[in-house]
Amino acid sequence: MKLIAIILAAGQGTRMRSKLTKVLHPLGGKPMIRYSVENALRISGEKPIVVVGHGAEQVKQLLGDEVRFVEQTPQLGTGHAVLQVLPHLSGEEDLVLIMAADMPLFHYETLKQLVEMQQHHAGPITLVSVGGDDSRGFGRVIRDVQGQVCSVIEEAQATPDELRIREYNTSVYCFSAKWLTANLSRIPLSPKGEYYLTDLVGIAIQDGLSVQALKLTDNSEAIGINTRIHLAEAEAVLRQRINQQWMMAGVTIIDPTTTYIESDVVLGMDTTIHPNTIIRGKTEIGENCCIGPNSVIRDAHIGNRCKVFASVVEKAIMEDDVDIGPFGHLRSGAHLAQGVHMGNFGEVKNSYLGPGSKMGHFSYLGDATLGAKVNVGAGTITCNYDGEKKNHTEIGDCVFLGSDTMLVAPVKIGEGGHTGAGAVVTKDIPDYSLAVGVPARVIRKLEKRGQT
Ligand code: UD1
Ligand code: CA
Repeated sequence: MKLIAIILAAGQGTRMRSKLTKVLHPLGGKPMIRYSVENALRISGEKPIVVVGHGAEQVKQLLGDEVRFVEQTPQLGTGHAVLQVLPHLSGEEDLVLIMAADMPLFHYETLKQLVEMQQHHAGPITLVSVGGDDSRGFGRVIRDVQGQVCSVIEEAQATPDELRIREYNTSVYCFSAKWLTANLSRIPLSPKGEYYLTDLVGIAIQDGLSVQALKLTDNSEAIGINTRIHLAEAEAVLRQRINQQWMMAGVTIIDPTTTYIESDVVLGMDTTIHPNTIIRGKTEIGENCCIGPNSVIRDAHIGNRCKVFASVVEKAIMEDDVDIGPFGHLRSGAHLAQGVHMGNFGEVKNSYLGPGSKMGHFSYLGDATLGAKVNVGAGTITCNYDGEKKNHTEIGDCVFLGSDTMLVAPVKIGEGGHTGAGAVVTKDIPDYSLAVGVPARVIRKLEKRGQT
């Protein structure tokens, strides 16, 4: 059985009132069209065809060669959109799955069930319908006295009686490829000057063929996005689904209503997420971690048994047993090796802190490499920027930096080196030497011993 998926994404999305094409608006941290693309790839195993029009360039840029594109200009309706795809079919397809890119909350399982239903169906169409009180402007699914689907009427064209119908078209269908190819051009022009894909239902019935509907049991799947109000509704549903998925997988979420975990995040077992925490992007967090409250984490790799307390972590790595906060900020390229402790008001950017190093209070490390077991005294700062370029600071194992040390980069402190409080280090300090003053000078050699 050969299945091809078509994703309709050419519409303007006027009701979003945005310069950004509707299907590129982020949902759960990624452009909403990605959800249909992911489902399509999973279900057919082949590149889906995405029909683009408004904002075509941006959509193409986002999806690249994950999919195939077909242009629709002008946009004369959903039927017209599918018509543009016909020349790109090989003729070997058995089934065509059609989805609208503004319906991102469909479960893969539902789509699979839809395809299976159509596979065993004598007629040419299975559509997905949804019930409920809120029509959301959807087309109505009209059934005959026997309860068989006989047409879909758009809300704008529906009679008052039809408007009372409480079964709606979700705009997700599975068609017999052969029948679709042969009949698409029969769609008449609507009073609005568009070709409605939905008219194919009436056409099949006129020909004496059967159309069946798969009615959703989870209505949240059919939250389509036409406005920013819908976008927020979809976001809330997605958030709840994601939180529930992680709780089922063994993550404790103290308050799911204030916990925001984006779609591509991965969390380990027995990790606890405290309130007001946002975990974004391609973040991975290991087991037995304690995250939050009041933390924002984005594109970070966090090992096992870590603590992030009221802090911000962006594009950074925390190995196992690292703890930061409160009020810490790890920026791009920060890498804290195993057992690093970073306390209040620390900031680290593009720097490596070796295993067991400690930085307890009010410090900034940028463009620095620290060895193991370094003690960074309160108020230590790398003066890494000379007004033109960023310079590197290198600090050996077991270095002890006195409070308020200024490291004027480029500069290097050898293994076991010490600085006195308030030292302004402008020149390299050799191994096991104590330097003090402004500018700092070496006043003594130190005995070689391990630091704790
Ligand atoms: C459509 C259905 C309606 C259904 C509703 C559910 C039709 C005529 N109506 O209405 O029965 O209840 O979805 O969400 O199909 N698109 C194109 N090219 C076009 C027009 C639209 O690619 O020329 C794409 C849009 O980008 C969008 C999808 O098709 O992803 C649906 O279009 P939209 O205008 O949102 O249709 P609805 O009015 O929601
Ligand atoms: Ca829509």
